[in-house]
Amino acid sequence: MSAVPKEVFSLGKSAANFIGMPRQLLIDGKWVNAESGKTFQVINPATGEQVGKVAEADKADVDKAVKAARKAFESGPWPSMTKSDRGKLLHRVGDLILKYADELAELESLDNGKPVLIARHADVALAADIFHYMSGWATKRHGLTIPFDCMYTPGVQYHAYTRPEPIGVVGQIIPWNFPLLMAAWKLAPALTAGCTVVLKVAEETPLSALRLGEIFQEAGVPAGVVNILTGFGETAGAALAAHPDVDKIAFTGSTEVGRLIVKAAATNLKKVSLELGGKSPNIVLADADLDIAIPGAASAIFFNHGQCCCAGSRLYIEQKIFDRVVEGVSAEAKNIKIGPGLDPSTQMGPLVSEIQFSRVCDYLDSGFKEGAKAITGGKKLEGKGYFVEPTVLVNTKPGMKVVDEEIFGPVVTAMPFKQFDDEIVRQANNTIYGLAAGIWTRDVSKAHALAAKLQAGTVWVNCYNIFDASLPFGGYKQSGWGREMGEAVLDNYTESKVVTVRI
Ligand code: NAI
Ligand code: MG
Repeated sequence: MSAVPKEVFSLGKSAANFIGMPRQLLIDGKWVNAESGKTFQVINPATGEQVGKVAEADKADVDKAVKAARKAFESGPWPSMTKSDRGKLLHRVGDLILKYADELAELESLDNGKPVLIARHADVALAADIFHYMSGWATKRHGLTIPFDCMYTPGVQYHAYTRPEPIGVVGQIIPWNFPLLMAAWKLAPALTAGCTVVLKVAEETPLSALRLGEIFQEAGVPAGVVNILTGFGETAGAALAAHPDVDKIAFTGSTEVGRLIVKAAATNLKKVSLELGGKSPNIVLADADLDIAIPGAASAIFFNHGQCCCAGSRLYIEQKIFDRVVEGVSAEAKNIKIGPGLDPSTQMGPLVSEIQFSRVCDYLDSGFKEGAKAITGGKKLEGKGYFVEPTVLVNTKPGMKVVDEEIFGPVVTAMPFKQFDDEIVRQANNTIYGLAAGIWTRDVSKAHALAAKLQAGTVWVNCYNIFDASLPFGGYKQSGWGREMGEAVLDNYTESKVVTVRI
């Protein structure tokens, strides 16, 4: 390809080969072009230039993929495979992700913009881990035996039990902020439960999930069990969400599109789980150990360039230590080395796309118009690529867009509060979202009291962004429905059947 930017030459051979040819859709175990023959560009956000091409799926391809998933759910090797073999297969997928970790990390960095070392040691490592973790559940989901007496058939005895059964054909739609990891978080539990899947990846970042499709084939996952589509939300995504033969739709992305998914799912009342936006409060009390709270608060917002649904984007600092913490977080921000993700010394790459770049810049403009002041950052970088400085804003208050809305960029609003009381709880909970929250304090009793009162699916105390495959993750309020990870996520993909037998 003539327009390959210089950076691509630092890709390993495998990753360079992978993007060297147009990538197709994975349907029914085969790599195929879109029915329309259309393709779209894969852009490197560090340069704004094209690095590859992928097939553009739309409704016709969704129909084909759903048919393949239905067939694989009802016949063939998948439904008759023992749970133990299913577990081993998923474990092998985890092993192969690690085997190809460097290549996957390079593709992720090129496509999304994130630093390649973060991609390798966070995204790829966690993606492998969820397959390893989930594979164990394949043999460990049991039903219940429920002893009961029926009040209107006195004297008759029954034996009742529940059977966990796979929900069926699952549609999954994922975003671009952790492309491989979101694919893994979605696919691993659905497959563990015995479902078959049509996965629609984000149009901004199709590469790593397509490589994952090859890994499924290499592991020996039967044809049609995992179908992977690259295409746009308004076409392929909408068709999948509305499809009458999809039993369940799992979505991660914006709250706005989450609402559209719910409407589309109403056609056949398919089951829905949603992991949506956030505007998470991160609260630093005056007694906190600032040696950990300051870098912790910085990484809570700047990790992944702020493109995290759980980003600690509203930083509440007890008045007494406000200036010190703001200075400290700003100093951390200034020290972050910005550059292309594929440069191993880069600590913060570009935002994922031109659209996301202008969205974040618009938020900064609106903040300044409404009176916010940047202690550090506040500008985009001139030149190629979608780079924005890590930014700490003060003089902000509720009612301003930068405080109320999810920015999804490296921008934190720092706000003082008087003291530890119900007022800080009220401020922290004053949002439509409820995904995560952070607390920094040395006082265990304050920590537990606050943790109980915050309306959030995850509360981190003296840490932030700590994830494990065993810990359920999801949102209160408009941050979503259901949980990812842990045993809890299996409920998203399971029907519980009660069998009642008269003795
Ligand atoms: P989005 O919600 O539009 O995209 C996420 C996924 O949904 C993509 O795969 C997209 O193709 C698909 N999609 C879009 N419209 C659809 C539709 N009508 N039907 C079915 N699928 C559809 O998010 P976008 O536009 O990329 O980002 C907008 C904002 O959303 C961000 O600024 C951020 O605030 C939030 N967001 C939150 C994420 C999270 O992890 N909770 C991830 C990505 C974005
Ligand atoms: Mg969108």
